[in-house]
Amino acid sequence: MTSASPTPQTAAPPLTATVPVLSVRSVFRLRTIEGQQVPIVRDVSFELRAGEFATIMGPSGSGKSTLLHLLAGLDRPSAGQVLLAGDDLGAGNEEDRARLRRTRIGFIFQFFNLLPDLTVEENVTLPLRIAGERPRRHAGRIDGLLQLLGVEKLKKRLPSSLSGGEMQRVSIARALSTQPPLVLADEPTGNLSSKAGEEVVALLRDVCTKLGAAILLVTHNPRDAAAGDRVLFLHDGALRANAELTGGPFRVADVFHRLQELGI
Ligand SMILES: Nc1ncnc2c1ncn2[C@@H]1O[C@H](COP(=O)(O)OP(=O)(O)OP(=O)(O)O)[C@@H](O)[C@H]1O
Ligand SMILES: [Mg+2]
Repeated sequence: MTSASPTPQTAAPPLTATVPVLSVRSVFRLRTIEGQQVPIVRDVSFELRAGEFATIMGPSGSGKSTLLHLLAGLDRPSAGQVLLAGDDLGAGNEEDRARLRRTRIGFIFQFFNLLPDLTVEENVTLPLRIAGERPRRHAGRIDGLLQLLGVEKLKKRLPSSLSGGEMQRVSIARALSTQPPLVLADEPTGNLSSKAGEEVVALLRDVCTKLGAAILLVTHNPRDAAAGDRVLFLHDGALRANAELTGGPFRVADVFHRLQELGI
C-alpha cells in the first residue's frame, strides 16, 4: 500500500503566494480637455500583496477615482499595464476583462450604488448571479458575510430604508460576495458621518483580513488613510516618490505630518 507518492514536507509555495495580487506598471491616463491632452494619471507604479491593506491619500481632483477605475478595468490606461495576479487586465477583449473584473475584484463606491428595487440580500448576491452562480449554493457563506458586517437582520429590506452606514456595510458585503482577492474602495466614507465612517473602515479592515482579501482604499480623509498598513500619496495624478508610509495602522497625526512635509 505504498504506491501513492508521499506528500513533500516542504512543498513549493503556490504561484499565487509569490505573485502580487495587483501590479501597476507605469500607468498613464490622458484626457482631452479643451482640445489639449492632459495627463490625469501620470506614471503610477506600485504593487499590492495578498492580504495587504493599502491606502492612497490625495486631495480632491488628484486623480484617485480615475486611477481606481483603471485598476478595476472600468477604464483603460492610455499607457502602462495593470496586472491582476499576473494576468494583464488590458489584454484580451471586453469579455475577458469583464470576467477578470467579476472574479478578481470587489468594488466599493462612495455613493454605494445599490440597486433601489432589489432587497439587501438581492443586492449582495447580484455579483454571484452576474457571474453565472446560483446564490442558493452560497447561502451559508453569504449569511456569514452579512453577519460579519452586522447587516443580517436587514436582508429583506430595500436600500432606501437603510442609513448611510448600513448601505455602505451592505455594499462591502456585495463587494466580497464573489470572494475576490482584491477589494478597491473609492472614498467609502465620503458620504458618512465621522462615526459611521470610522466603523466602516474598521469593519472593512477586519472582514478583509478574515477573508484574506487585499484592500486598496483611496481617500482624501487622513483618518481613513491612517487605517492602512501602507499609505501612498497621490498629487496631480502621480505618486510622490519615496513618500510612502509603511508599518501601519498609523496615528492620524502621522499622516497629517507627512502631508505637511510633502506640501499637499
Ligand atoms: N470624464 C472626464 N473628462 C475630463 N476630465 C475629467 C473627467 N473625469 C475626471 N476628470 C478630471 O480629472 C481630474 C481627476 O479627477 P478624479 O475624479 O479622478 O479626482 P479625485 O481625486 O477622485 O477627486 P475627488 O476627491 O473629488 O473624488 C480632475 O481634474 C477632473 O476634473
Ligand atoms: Mg473621486
